[in-house]
Amino acid sequence: MKLLSTLMLLPVLTATVNAQEFGEQPAGARIPDKLEFQSIFNGKDLSGWAGKTEFWSVKDGAIFGQTTKDKPTQSNTFLVWQGGDVADFEFKAKVRFAGNNSGVQYRSELFGNPEDFAVKGYQADLHPKPEYFGMLYAEKWRGIVARRFQRVVVGADGKPKVVGEVGNKDQKLVDTEWNELTIIAVGNRQIHQVNGVTTMDLTDNHPEAKRKGILALQLHRGKPMTVEFKDIRLRHLKGEDAKAAINAVTKKAGWTDELHTAYFEWFLKAANYRGGASFAKFIQFIRDDAVASLSETQKKSLKEILAKKPVQKSALENLGAIFAGRSETKWTLDELSQATRTNLKQRDFRNGRKMFAAGGCFACHRFRNQGGMTGPDLTTAGRRYSAHDLLDQVIHPSKVINDQFSAVSVITEDGLAHTGVVVNLSSDRLTLNTDLSDPNKRVNIDRNTIEELIVSKTSPMPTGLFNRMTKDEILDLIAYLISGGDPKYEYFRK
Ligand code: HEC
Repeated sequence: MKLLSTLMLLPVLTATVNAQEFGEQPAGARIPDKLEFQSIFNGKDLSGWAGKTEFWSVKDGAIFGQTTKDKPTQSNTFLVWQGGDVADFEFKAKVRFAGNNSGVQYRSELFGNPEDFAVKGYQADLHPKPEYFGMLYAEKWRGIVARRFQRVVVGADGKPKVVGEVGNKDQKLVDTEWNELTIIAVGNRQIHQVNGVTTMDLTDNHPEAKRKGILALQLHRGKPMTVEFKDIRLRHLKGEDAKAAINAVTKKAGWTDELHTAYFEWFLKAANYRGGASFAKFIQFIRDDAVASLSETQKKSLKEILAKKPVQKSALENLGAIFAGRSETKWTLDELSQATRTNLKQRDFRNGRKMFAAGGCFACHRFRNQGGMTGPDLTTAGRRYSAHDLLDQVIHPSKVINDQFSAVSVITEDGLAHTGVVVNLSSDRLTLNTDLSDPNKRVNIDRNTIEELIVSKTSPMPTGLFNRMTKDEILDLIAYLISGGDPKYEYFRK
């Protein structure tokens, strides 16, 4: 089989030519120290690029790559820029493609037979599927590292963690139309954008992370496809320019020390006022990242605030602080439901939000992009549930359990038991988060080894969360939930 496929490749190999034959390599193709954008494609021929000639040409001022039914490629093949390695840089190109996916490799390397122009490394994926368009795919290496809309941090253990959202979920991208791709790579930070909107943001501390390498354009094996690239520009980045480039896309430009101080003070408070161990961890991620984006001078002038550590209290202690000295009321559903029928008007928006925080809801639930993720996002819960049903969910969490968040117990062939919430399920693997207060505590279980799987009848959400609130406070909280966080909602009209 191996021999046969090698033989089949032979005619392809002889048809392949090396870089020089594409045309004269212009002396200016290598642009080591220029910090402004330079065009790296002349719009006329493939000078400065190398790949399999049978697939690549120039058409209407664009690099044109094509495979057909009669002339497929056996494996992914690339047009490689001959201008040297890219390390810290910003790349821009207009691109459109059809039939299959393409992508731009960077900080990559050639591997295998040089005539195949096979490449390994980071790829800004250009994929017709919305959730993949602009994602980070580590070609012949680590597979999908960050999908579109994800902010991912890969730790020294090599494991990717989604730490936030980026971009705009309403942004529609069409593969067959011209879109502008931007890649920014500085140190361990890599950001992709399409049409000026960030599609993924990666901080890569993988032990084998690559900080420099070649740049290349992809033609995918499989279905016949075309891809076109034009207006291809590159600038190398260094020092303050590099920082500014990252800041410009992460919108941290224009920060004064004063703003920074206020910002970091917020983190000191935030570690407490929403309570909950998992929320504190998210806060820690954001803070670490914010610190990492500071320049040395900024770090120096903010030394004092950066040295301060939050005094952390547990979620229950935080609840205690706000509701201190109150006695408990065992609210019944009927009583509260009755109250919502007549009293969901002229509610207090700010108090509703305060109760959402004080009641510990933020610790496990996201609401308008804030809060923990161990429970469902509640931003649109008010559209899905009536006031009565929302009350019911909080008073009787285990009556109806959202199965996406149910706890399960798994017993495996070798007699081990694991209990947790399913965070990932594939055809052969089940991943459980075993500690709701720590989203990073996970076990992976081979599905073939599962003897028994029991879905827990108890919700991970605690009972009695309303017990120390007054009726008015509960109504404010319900109004806040139903409004989706909109202070202009009718329930708040005075
Ligand atoms: C310790 C974590 C935790 C806390 C604290 C918590 N919840 Fe939950 N909540 C969950 C989990 C997990 C679910 C999903 C399982 C279920 O349906 O019972 C859930 C489900 C819900 C649901 C149903 C949502 C849906 O889409 O099915 C509502 C409404 C809700 N919680 C409201 C609240 C409110 C209001 C608070 C604060 C007073 C709160 N929760 C506090 C973990 C929590």
